[in-house]
Amino acid sequence: MTNNKKPAHPQLIKSLQKAYSAEKAAAFAYQGHAAAVKDPEEKKAIRQIEIDEWNHRHEVLQIMQRYDIPVSKFYEARFHIIGKMISFSCHVIGWFMPFYFAGRLESGNVCEYFLMKQYFNSLGIREYDKLLYDMGMKEKDHEVYFLDKIKTNKLLPFFEKLFSWGKKQSFNNIDLDKKYPVEESDPYCKIKQ
Ligand SMILES: [Fe+2]
Ligand SMILES: [Fe+2]
Repeated sequence: MTNNKKPAHPQLIKSLQKAYSAEKAAAFAYQGHAAAVKDPEEKKAIRQIEIDEWNHRHEVLQIMQRYDIPVSKFYEARFHIIGKMISFSCHVIGWFMPFYFAGRLESGNVCEYFLMKQYFNSLGIREYDKLLYDMGMKEKDHEVYFLDKIKTNKLLPFFEKLFSWGKKQSFNNIDLDKKYPVEESDPYCKIKQ
């Protein structure tokens, strides 16, 4: 396959590079999280989420390679350290916090992929719509999984007030019960033009 020209969209290039490295941080973090929980069902679910993040990293890299977008050494180093630190911290901060902060992080990640879709679309490129939609939706599944684990926990109202994420607040406007198909998904994470 021939390479395409680098897209004239600095924000898009940056968000691809960042997502590629941040997915590694997430995967590392979930390695620590899965190792720290005792419940075998939780271990299995978190391990699956780790695999999802490695898959995302692979998909993002493939897009980058088609446009000759280099991997950022800076992001790779930074997110490597962040991921390893979170991974370690999962063993010392108890049960609740890793679930809470994972859910909060996933909530923000959802729009990263819907924004990339909008950036590509602004260049007239629609071939990644389905892929980016699916990746955004997968992050939403992750958010919902983590929220589900803690939604009745007595610490949640306090954390929600402090960190603006929880049962009532999310960083995206996606409702899995009323899901728009990919062709009608433009209102998701809409940016002002
Ligand atoms: Fe991901
Ligand atoms: Fe995720």
